[in-house]
Amino acid sequence: MFETLQPMPADAILGLIAEHRDDPRPEKIDLGVGVYRDAEGRTPILNSVKKAERRLLDSQDSKAYLGTAGAPQFNAGIQDLTFADSVDAERLVTIQTPGGSGSLRVAAGLLLRARQSVSVWVSEPTWANHIPLLGGAGLELKPHPYYDTDRHVINVDAMLDTLRKAPVGDVVLLHACCHNPSGLDPTEDEWRAIVGVIAERELLPFIDMAYQGFARGVDEDAFVIRELAARVPELVVSNSCSKNFGLYRDRVGSLSFLAADAASRDVVSSQANNYVRTLYSMPPDHGAAVVSMILADAALRGEWLDEVTAMRARLEAMRSLLNDALQARNPSRDFSHLMRATGMFCFLGISPEEVQRLKKEFGVYMVDSSRINVAGITEQNVGYLADAIAAVV
Ligand code: LMR
Repeated sequence: MFETLQPMPADAILGLIAEHRDDPRPEKIDLGVGVYRDAEGRTPILNSVKKAERRLLDSQDSKAYLGTAGAPQFNAGIQDLTFADSVDAERLVTIQTPGGSGSLRVAAGLLLRARQSVSVWVSEPTWANHIPLLGGAGLELKPHPYYDTDRHVINVDAMLDTLRKAPVGDVVLLHACCHNPSGLDPTEDEWRAIVGVIAERELLPFIDMAYQGFARGVDEDAFVIRELAARVPELVVSNSCSKNFGLYRDRVGSLSFLAADAASRDVVSSQANNYVRTLYSMPPDHGAAVVSMILADAALRGEWLDEVTAMRARLEAMRSLLNDALQARNPSRDFSHLMRATGMFCFLGISPEEVQRLKKEFGVYMVDSSRINVAGITEQNVGYLADAIAAVV
């Protein structure tokens, strides 16, 4: 059986984890996978998470199955974090999923249960795993313009022109905040224009929110979701708690559907639960139990919000540190687009050959597109990093 299979290339993003780990050079720098790091280059467990885990250890008295939708308290907490009071809760259903990727995969399956063939418009570029994950599930992906690589801005007009021509009923996948890989999000006015076209063309918005809290704030980052909820009959939202709760390996995510009314919500809910049962049966519990404990406890929630604010501030500071260091070494080259991005990512704007040279000659790791995770920058390594970049461009 297996002799018919061919080996697959390493994942474009996850492959960098092992490459960096196996590099013996002490000065190596990892700007690859989207994982937060502190000033010492560590990815610590959040204090709010540690406290909730300790409490959970004492208070949890059963590991019995919770069912296909996971924990109701988690789902209610995430629904509130996502939608606040922007829409009638009777039209909403949220299920817990194994991470944001699990959520995207369940959404894809449900879309294909609803219709035999579904086209999804995705930004050019989008998260590298959107294509194999959603395409592999059977959705047809179509690119719409987004990032202007020459000017390092979002080309909202071109995006809107394309979406205006999209067939009624097509799906549009949007990044709620911290667009991955470019780090560039539409302004609130631009979001309103995008929402207007989606409503006019009767497109189904499908929002991926993997970085809530990392762009402007936990509420601010849900802006487009709440705008859409007030304007459109149906909406799909995938959430991830990997980054904002630092629960990467615990696989905590959720999938929410806004349906036209309570009766259709009930149908979508039963379909989602049935689909999950055929796929992975039930989501893992631990991380979601931690999140629901944090969200339900005022003190823990406050501490968590402060920790998210601190992570966001560090990312901003590191972006600015790198920009200054690059300016100092190469005044003729403009890297100021780094400062327009939010969250973990932005494009450095260098060629794949230059990316390879950084890796080979300097032990600096980033995705081939020159997407960097600014969390990998520290006060200690920024000088070496800027020297390396200046040497290859
Ligand atoms: C990333 O884009 O680096 C993260 O979302 C991690 C991943 O799974 O790709």
